[in-house]
Parts: sequence; structure tokens; C-alpha cells
Amino acid sequence: MHIDVFTLFPGMFVGPLQESILKRAQEMGRLSIAIHNIRDYATDKHHITDDTPYGGGGGMVMKPEPIFRAVEAILGVGSPLPKLGEGPGMGASIPIILLTPQGRLFTQQVAQELAGHERLALICGHYEGVDERVRTGLATDEISIGDYVLTGGELAAMVIIDAVARLLPGVLGAPEAAENDSYATGLLEYPHYTRPPVFRELTVPPVLLSGDHAEIARWRRREAIRRTWLRRPDLLLIADLNEMDRAILADLAEETVRVRLQS
Ligand code: ADE
Repeated sequence: MHIDVFTLFPGMFVGPLQESILKRAQEMGRLSIAIHNIRDYATDKHHITDDTPYGGGGGMVMKPEPIFRAVEAILGVGSPLPKLGEGPGMGASIPIILLTPQGRLFTQQVAQELAGHERLALICGHYEGVDERVRTGLATDEISIGDYVLTGGELAAMVIIDAVARLLPGVLGAPEAAENDSYATGLLEYPHYTRPPVFRELTVPPVLLSGDHAEIARWRRREAIRRTWLRRPDLLLIADLNEMDRAILADLAEETVRVRLQS
């Protein structure tokens, strides 16, 4: 996969993309990332990329021209500027994604969807916002990484790159590693333990030391359901549960009632 990032702050990407799994994914040739400075595409003498908003009000707004020029130069999509609502990316195969708190919420499902593309373009907004014509005439998608406001789209872009990269074939060591993820299964993940078996009097559940793989699988499923039920019951409404899972849930409900009655 190739990802083009359009930003006013390329320096923010130095570091996070050059460590750990993202570094390995690039070395393996599974992922390539190009960071483009929007300022390089401003044509005026001072390379101005923002301006005051029409209609007044505080803050600055990112100008449309440098962003359009940058994206069009890199993706090769046609100028002149498209008509409103007819972004060049509409129907085109490269998603042009604007990072904004107003976008659709980024989830594991969206990460999986994006991982299916060969190429992505991420536009990082800044200041008070981005001229609306970037949204209506250039971007094909808008994504928010959560219901909070960041100082810009850069960290959001890095979150998306990270979540998508680990889903690319061959990037994680074990092929099943991503399959058991929290959210990929529709449930939160079961607890993990490693050596030592006792640490500061905290013990590892005996079943994990038993070597009984069927029993371990049952315990893990039960704990995944328990954790989801306690922390994110909303996920159970859409999780893919079988008969046995439902029995586990009923059992957990009974267990909770019993514990409550005893206390
Ligand atoms: N830019 C500012 N806040 C953001 C958010 N929550 N998600 C994506 N981009 C953003």
C-alpha cells in the first residue's frame, strides 16, 4: 500500500513512522509513505496557506488552492478545479480522506475497509478549519478518530496509518495476530499473561498453565465475553455470538447477580 499525506507540519511524522512495526512494514516493501508539505504548493511569495474566514469570526482557515494543487500534483487528478460536489476523486479509486472531527468515526471496520485499497491520500486540516471547498470538491471521505478536537489532523493521520498498516498481509508476524484483535472479533480481547506464573503474589489463571488447549480456548472466549459485557456492553448488541456464547452470557449474568446478593 502507498499512502500520501498532505500536511503543513511534515516534521510531526518523523519518529512515529520510523519505529517498530511501521518501520518494518516499510522495509518489507508492504507499505510506503510520502509526506507532502502543503506549503510547497502555495504560489504566492510568502507561501501563505491560511486566511481569515469570510463573514468574520476568530481564527484562520486553510486556503483551498495549495491543498488542491498539492493533491492534484501528487495524485495526478485533473485541473481545473472541479465543480462543487464533483471532486476529482469521486468514483476514482484512490480515497482522498480529510481528517476532521466532523468526519465519520474511525473504527476497526473502517481500518479494514481502508486496508483493502492500494493507495490512500490523507489531508491533515489545521487552524480553525479547512475551506469547505476542500470537502465538497476534493475529498472523497472525511474521517474523525474520536469525539474530541485535536490541534490538527496529523495525529489522526498517524493513528489511521498505524491501524491500517498492521492489517496489511505479512506486516504482523503471526497471520492470526490481527484476527483476535479487540474489535476484529466484535468483542474486547481476553486477558494475556506471560512468565512468571506468580508476580508480587498476582497469579496466572491455572487453566493457562494446564496445557489443555480446548479448555484454554473456552476460558479465553468466556473472559472476552465477560470483559466486553462489563466494559462495552454496547458491543454485544452487534457481536457475532453463537449458542455457546449466549450460554456464557447467561451464566455471567447469573454470576453477577449471585455476587451482588452476597455483598
Ligand atoms: N482534527 C482535529 N480533531 C480531529 C479528530 N478528532 N479526528 C480527525 N481529525 C481531527
